[in-house]
Amino acid sequence: MIDKILIKKIIKPFNQVIEIEGDKSISIRCVLLASQANGKSVISNLLESEDVLNAIKSIKKLGINSKFKKKKCEIFGLGLNGYKIKKNIILDAGNSGTLARLIMGLLIHSKEKIKIIGDNSLSKRDFLRVAKPLEKFGAKVRTTNGKLPIIIEGTSNPKPINYIESKGSAQCKSSVMLAALNTKGLTHIKAKKSRNHSELLFKNLKLPINIINKKKYDLIKINGKKKIKPFNYRVPSDLSSSAFFIVLTALSKNSKLQIKNVNINPTRIGVIKILRSMGVKIFFRNIRIYKGEKIANIFIKSTKSLKPINCPTHLNSSAIDEFLVIFLVAAKANGVSNFSNLSELNQKESPRLTWGSKILNKMGIKTKTTKDSIKIYGNPNLDVNKKIVINKYLKDHRIFMTSVIAALTFGGKWIIHDKNSINTSFPSFLKIINKINKIRS
Ligand code: S3P
Repeated sequence: MIDKILIKKIIKPFNQVIEIEGDKSISIRCVLLASQANGKSVISNLLESEDVLNAIKSIKKLGINSKFKKKKCEIFGLGLNGYKIKKNIILDAGNSGTLARLIMGLLIHSKEKIKIIGDNSLSKRDFLRVAKPLEKFGAKVRTTNGKLPIIIEGTSNPKPINYIESKGSAQCKSSVMLAALNTKGLTHIKAKKSRNHSELLFKNLKLPINIINKKKYDLIKINGKKKIKPFNYRVPSDLSSSAFFIVLTALSKNSKLQIKNVNINPTRIGVIKILRSMGVKIFFRNIRIYKGEKIANIFIKSTKSLKPINCPTHLNSSAIDEFLVIFLVAAKANGVSNFSNLSELNQKESPRLTWGSKILNKMGIKTKTTKDSIKIYGNPNLDVNKKIVINKYLKDHRIFMTSVIAALTFGGKWIIHDKNSINTSFPSFLKIINKINKIRS
C-alpha cells in the first residue's frame, strides 16, 4: 500500500458536522479493566485502532476472550489476577506506550516471565519510569538499558507502596494504580496533575479509591483486592484526535465545524485553553456528564487574527499530545510564542519538540529550541510556496497528521510519508478530511 500522501492545495472553505472515533486512553483502560472484571463487560464506540487491537490481542494471550464487531467489544474477564499465564508469553504493544506501561501494572503477580516488546518507536522510549515503582511492589522487571524489550516476573505476595509521580505522566500513575488494585493493603500515590481517566473509571466501578485534589498534585489512595464487577461503557470521542480538526478550522478561511460528543475532561482541555487564549473561537454546547467524564459538542470558527502565547507550564500535561498542532497556530500568530518545560514532548512516539520545530523551519518559520523549550516567531502572512517533504523514518501518527493540517492550511506542495501511522490512533483521519472537503493533490 502507498504509504505517503501528496497535497498541493489548501482546503476550500467548509461548514460541516463531524464525529471522531473513540478516545484512545479510555479505550485501552476499558479493555484492561474489563479483562480483570468477573464476567462479560460490553464497551461500545471502542476505538478500532492498532493500539487498541494490540491491547485486545495482549489480553487474549493472557487467556481473556473477547468479541469485537462494529465498534462494540465484549470482554469476558476472569477476575482480578485471573490471567492464564503460560510459559514464554510475549506481548507485543506495537506503538503504544499506554498499553505497554499499563499492562505491566497488571502483571506484577505473574508466575512466569512475560516479555513485552514493541515497534521501533516504542523500543526507543523510557521504561524505567514504570519498572522502578513496579519493582517496589516486589515484581522483578528487567529492561534493556531502561527500554524494551522488558521481562517482567511477578511476586505471589506484592506489598503496597508509597509512590511519587513527578513527571505528570498518566501512564506511570495508571500503571501503579492497576498494580495497587491487585495488591492487598493501601497504596499511596502523590501524582503531579495528569489525565484522570483511570481515577474516574475506578470510581465508577466502585473500586476502593480515595482522591484528594491539591493545586499542583493529587493524593490517591487505593485499597487493593476488591473484585471488579463487569461493566457497560460507551467511549466518548477523542479530544486529541479532534484537535487536528479544531486547528484545521481555526487556520482555514471562512469555515465552521461542529464535532459531536467529544470528551472534554478538564484534565485534557489544555489545548482548548491555549487556543482560546490565542484568539481561536471554540465553544462547547450540550455539556453533559457520562460516568464521570465530561462530554460536549464542540463548535469552531475560522480565526482571522491570532495572538502569540507565553504558554503557562501548568497546562503542559493537559495538552501534551496536542503541542504539534498548537505550534501550527503559533506559526500564524502575530508575534513570538514561548513554550517551556516541555522535555516530556521529546519522550513521545518521536522527539516531537525537535520535529515540531523542524517542520516549522521547513515551512519558513523561525524557531529557537532548547532541550525543553521552543520559541516560535509567528508570521500571519505566511504562504508556504515551495515543496516540502516529511520523510518516512519517524512513523509518528501525530507528525503525519500535523503535517497534513499544515499542508491544507499554509499551502505549498507537500509529500508526507508514513500515512499508515494513523492506524495506531485515528484510522479515519483522512476519510474525515475528505468528507469535509476533498484533498486536492
Ligand atoms: C496517555 C498519557 C500521556 C499521553 C499518551 C496517552 C495515557 O502519556 O501522551 O498519548 O493514556 O495515559 P504520558 O503519561 O507518558 O505523559
